[in-house]
Amino acid sequence: MATHIVEIKDLQFGFANEVGRIQPLFEGLDLSIERGQFICLVGPSGCGKTTLIRLIAGLLDSQGGTININLKQKDTKRRRAYMFQDARLLPWRRVLSNVMFALEPLPVSKEEAKETALKNLKMVGLEDHANKFPHQLSGGQRQRVAIARALSVGAELLLMDEPFSALDAYTRHELQDDLLEIWQKMDKTIIFITHDMREAEYLANRIITLSEDATIENDKKIKTKRPRKRS
Ligand SMILES: Nc1ncnc2c1ncn2[C@@H]1O[C@H](COP(=O)(O)OP(=O)(O)OP(=O)(O)O)[C@@H](O)[C@H]1O
Ligand SMILES: [Mg+2]
Repeated sequence: MATHIVEIKDLQFGFANEVGRIQPLFEGLDLSIERGQFICLVGPSGCGKTTLIRLIAGLLDSQGGTININLKQKDTKRRRAYMFQDARLLPWRRVLSNVMFALEPLPVSKEEAKETALKNLKMVGLEDHANKFPHQLSGGQRQRVAIARALSVGAELLLMDEPFSALDAYTRHELQDDLLEIWQKMDKTIIFITHDMREAEYLANRIITLSEDATIENDKKIKTKRPRKRS
């Protein structure tokens, strides 16, 4: 088994402008991520963080170079679990059903899906809220549902795009600690985008900073022992 879960070599990618010409964003990016790491990806607005994890998730196709995702699981539908800044729950479905929704494309029975969803709702402390609708939850609880949904897919690789940035500091700290516990328990590799350097230093093993021109400006390991103090 390769030790790198993500291997990006010579990545080329740009978006087309109004007249269809590609505006280069990544021009030869190389990046390898070891299995089991908690990576924080930081950098100025517009530098390409979201685009990079969408490429890793397979939601966008690269235009050159290679992106290898080396998973233990062979089931490619479980390849990615992607989490956004907002929870993106379906308002007409109850919490449990929102979590089960993520399992619909997978070859699992309804009973199994329900069991998995309940287990993960418990993991994020929401077992008593399974029958509520999203509008009956706080912002933090909705993000917890989104975490439970991401976990339910069973993906080895969790891609999280500023998932806690809309939350108040207290809730954010709680969710950071919950996520760290999940990461330590469940053998996940996490790539987590944040604007908040303190959040990155609290969470990450490794902080990758992209610069304005979508190159890696800084790549540092954080070896501070856990539990860490918040700065
Ligand atoms: N769908 C799109 N079509 C055209 N250009 C896009 C598209 N999505 C992103 N871009 C451009 O690509 C660049 C990188 O965007 P991206 O969303 O990856 O940045 P980001 O680092 O995530 O920024 P932020 O911190 O503000 O979320 C930006 O210049 C942006 O305008
Ligand atoms: Mg972004």
